[in-house]
Amino acid sequence: MKIFENNGHKIYQGDAIEILQNNIENNSVDLIFVDPPYNIGKNFNGRKDKWKSDEDYLNWCYQWIDLLLKKLKKTGSLYIMTSTQFIPHFDIYLRDKIEILSRIVWSYDSSGVQAKNYYGSMYEPILFCVKDRNNYTFNSDEILVEAKTGSKRKLIDYRKNPPQPYNTKKVPGNVWNYPRVRYRMAEYENHPTQKPIALLERIIKASTNEGDIVLDPFSGTFTTSYVAKKLKRKSIGIEIDEDFSKIGIRRVLEQFKLNGEDLSPEPKTYQIKNTQQQTLFETKQEYEA
Ligand SMILES: C[S@@+](CC[C@H](N)C(=O)[O-])C[C@H]1O[C@@H](n2cnc3c(N)ncnc32)[C@H](O)[C@@H]1O
Repeated sequence: MKIFENNGHKIYQGDAIEILQNNIENNSVDLIFVDPPYNIGKNFNGRKDKWKSDEDYLNWCYQWIDLLLKKLKKTGSLYIMTSTQFIPHFDIYLRDKIEILSRIVWSYDSSGVQAKNYYGSMYEPILFCVKDRNNYTFNSDEILVEAKTGSKRKLIDYRKNPPQPYNTKKVPGNVWNYPRVRYRMAEYENHPTQKPIALLERIIKASTNEGDIVLDPFSGTFTTSYVAKKLKRKSIGIEIDEDFSKIGIRRVLEQFKLNGEDLSPEPKTYQIKNTQQQTLFETKQEYEA
């Protein structure tokens, strides 16, 4: 296991279960976002996301779920994802242990979905849970969206005196539309299941305040820690793969070299102007430009 840290942000490179057991204090975390391997055969840099049986996968998940519940503060929130076929098992397992307040559908556009003889999957489920339904953070004002009424005219509330236009802002419902992260998007990193910044922004804004601690035990490209940092929260990210951890070291700790190795992202094909000489980013400013 390796630890990298800077300014309230910690990156653990190693196995999530071992690190949760040995390195994270009980009742210490305000928000947990978990996006584990889904047991659907993705290739995480050579590590296959497929267990021998469904039972093996679920038993592995139940081990880290139990640990996460210990790490969460009494006022804390948990957002947990997995594939559509396994989320019902998570739901039933969690129901007796924590309050499930929302069953969220992250819905996205169709590109990449090619099923011809059945209905291709266009969403991923997220369970939003809290330990205490009478005492948890939910900053509704921070995440308001425009209510879509279907009306072209401004609706007036005549029950008010004098009559006033209806408030058109509302707390989002449980169907969230965000595009998946694509190669040409500025936030893209080299990872098969990167989650969008916008998705994590809604979750972290709603369920934490500045200075709170956000934990992500399967960090991948460290989107959670990256957004936590942007919003002035603290973060703990765990990731088993060395290359993915380096993405976190660059994205969250803003370190562009590690033991002499350049951590700049590969330039995208459309950014390589001259095929003889590949452009590499020297600084974060250049990368973000
Ligand atoms: C679905 S991805 C997470 C993607 C992430 N949410 C993002 O936005 O990039 C799951 C990650 O878990 C990592 N992983 C798999 N087994 C692990 C383990 N035992 N401990 C820690 N990380 C693990 C994989 O390498 C992969 O990057």
